Amino acid sequence: MQKKITVLAGDGIGPEVTKQALKVLRAVAKAYDHEFSFQEGLVGAAAIDATGNPFPEETEKLCLDADAVLFGAIGHPKYDNDPNAKVRPEQGLLAMRKKLGLFSNVRPVKSYEAISHISPLKERVVKDVDFVVFRELTGGIYFGEPRGRNEKGDTAFDTCIYSKSEIQRIAIQAFEAAKKRRKHVTLVDKANVMATSRLWRETVSECGKNYPEIKLDYMFIDNAAMKLIQNPGFFDVVLTENMFGDILTDAASVITGSLGMLPSASLGEKVQLFEPIHGSYPEVAGLSKANPLGAILSAAMLINYAFGMTEESNAIKNAVDQSLKEGYVTEDINHEQFHTTEEVGDKIATLVYASKKQHA
Ligand code: IPM
Ligand code: MN
Repeated sequence: MQKKITVLAGDGIGPEVTKQALKVLRAVAKAYDHEFSFQEGLVGAAAIDATGNPFPEETEKLCLDADAVLFGAIGHPKYDNDPNAKVRPEQGLLAMRKKLGLFSNVRPVKSYEAISHISPLKERVVKDVDFVVFRELTGGIYFGEPRGRNEKGDTAFDTCIYSKSEIQRIAIQAFEAAKKRRKHVTLVDKANVMATSRLWRETVSECGKNYPEIKLDYMFIDNAAMKLIQNPGFFDVVLTENMFGDILTDAASVITGSLGMLPSASLGEKVQLFEPIHGSYPEVAGLSKANPLGAILSAAMLINYAFGMTEESNAIKNAVDQSLKEGYVTEDINHEQFHTTEEVGDKIATLVYASKKQHA
């Protein structure tokens, strides 16, 4: 297959982990006889420095013109510590989601036996955790208008707003995903307090009627936060709105032991975007300490979701399993015996290539 991928490496550790993901994609192309071409675009602080805009029009065009987008990370400390900054890298992320219509953020959370001992939770709690969160990404309080301050400036407000159609389209994705999994969807909301949550319940329960084989249950966000720590194995598919999903997925990310491991997909009507969930982690940028597995697993999701390359995607996932088993990992996973970002990238690429040659 011939495919065009737009690469937005972004800020902090974004470029170095993305580089490893590309290395692995090149190994896939070589081993399985595909042709991947890569075109790079600017985003985040890097884009502000070059153009004044964290998501330039040129980058938007590059994304819409590709078969899929691979994204690194956004964010720079010089903006975090400047409350007066007029543009912020994160605005680029929100603009990108909105402009590319990426309404559904899919975050799988899976424990790996080889590293379950580094989880802050007990091994017996973490064992067999395998769920996926569908977080709505272009609505709710993140984008609702009006927002701002009153004239005097002593009162501030945000608006949480959802339409039925915004809820329906992501609910369908969650139910469809559940069909191929353990057939269990949990809608997380705050329907005891919020009108938007009550619309979510109404809409999702209507939608669930089309999926009689799927067990649908409802959980308040506060209860879900507790359950996630106490018994994460309960969950299969979690469906939730933008802000609740943001908070829950950060909490979920530590279950497996390292935030650096988790990939994500953002799906929409125009194009699909894939990124590790770890963010720009500027403290270690450029030091070759960052864990590239989140980015590499995002590349695995990309070729599976966007190109339908199941075998190739599994080859990457197996290579990640294998290197975890061998203890060939970065410092976040084993701070006594560790390898660099580059070395882990090389290792996965080599394993992917070798696995195909063995089967050929
Ligand atoms: C995420 C991030 C973003 C969000 C921030 C950086 C705006 O936390 O992708 O989860 O809140 O959505
Ligand atoms: Mn977040």
